[in-house]
Amino acid sequence: MINFTSITQIGNLKEAFAKARYVKENPFADQNLGKNRTLLMIFFNSSLRTRLSTQKAAMNLGMNVIVLDINQGAWKLETERGAVMDGDKPEHLLEAIPVMGCYCDVIGVRSFARFENRDDDYNEKILNQFIKYSGKPVFSMEAATRHPLQTFADMITIEEYKKKDRPKIVMTWAPHPKALPQAVPNSFAEGINLTDYEFVITHPEGYELDPKFTGNAKIEYDQDKAFEGADFIYAKNWAAYSGDNYGKVLSMDRNWTVDSRKMALTDNAFFMHCLPVRRNMIVTDDVIESPQSIVIPEAANRVVSAQTVLKEILLSL
Ligand code: CP
Repeated sequence: MINFTSITQIGNLKEAFAKARYVKENPFADQNLGKNRTLLMIFFNSSLRTRLSTQKAAMNLGMNVIVLDINQGAWKLETERGAVMDGDKPEHLLEAIPVMGCYCDVIGVRSFARFENRDDDYNEKILNQFIKYSGKPVFSMEAATRHPLQTFADMITIEEYKKKDRPKIVMTWAPHPKALPQAVPNSFAEGINLTDYEFVITHPEGYELDPKFTGNAKIEYDQDKAFEGADFIYAKNWAAYSGDNYGKVLSMDRNWTVDSRKMALTDNAFFMHCLPVRRNMIVTDDVIESPQSIVIPEAANRVVSAQTVLKEILLSL
C-alpha cells in the first residue's frame, strides 16, 4: 500500500480485520516502525476525530507528526493552473505540495467537495495533485468523494458488534440544515459492497448517490420499510448528487429523523453515525443515548483504522 484513498485498497477484508484486531490489542507493538519518520497532516477543512485519531495512531507507531491547517496560519493557496495570481492567494498549490513533501515521509490530506463543479469534486482534483506532486505516500483523511479511514473504522465496528454472519445494514439519509458532501455515504456504500451483507440505502427521491458507489445496494424510498429487520442503522445526511441539483439541500424533512419508533421496527439494531451529528435533526436524543448506540466505540475505532493503514504505508517505505 503506497497511497490510501479508497476502502477498496484495503486488500483482503478478512486479513485487514485481523490486522486491525492485532493493532487494537497491541497498540504499542510497532513503536519502532515510525522512528525518525514524519507524518504531515494537511487540513483544508475542520476536524475533531480525524485530527486526533490519526495523530494518536501515528504516535502509537513512533512517528513525529506535523499538522497544518491551510486556512489558519498558512498562505492562502491558489488551486487553478493558469490563474493570474493578482488576488488574495499568494501561493500556488503546485509549489506548496512539493515543498510539503520535502518535510515529511507520509502525507494525510483532508479536502472536502467544494460543490462548485461536480467533475472537479468527483475527479478528486486536490487529492490527486498531492499524489502527483508530493513525491510521498498520500492517504485521504476525507476527500471530495470518499472517507476511507472512517469507512474502515465503521466496518471494524460492525465486525465487532454483528450477531450474524450476514447482518442487514441500512444506510439512511437524515435531515441537516447545511449541504454536506457525499464522501461518507459513498465510501460506506463502497465498503459494505465489499462484503456479502444485506445492504439497503434509504433516502427521499432526489438524493440518489452515484451508482458507482451504491453498486448492488437495494434503494428503498420508504424509510420504515427499509428499517424492518435491520441489524445496523447507519445514519448520514448528504446533499443531492444528481445533475443540476448537485450540492443542494432539497429537503429538511424531520420525518426522516431517526427516532425510537423507527428503531423499534428493526431487529434491535445498533445505531451508527460517523459524527459530528446534529441531534434531533439526524437522530433523537433518546436513540443516540440508548444502549444500542455505538457511535463512541465507532469513533474510538478511528485510531485502529488509521494505525492499521499507516502501519501498512510505513511497511511499504
Ligand atoms: N467523522 C469524522 O471524520 O469526524 P471529523 O470531521 O471530526 O474528523
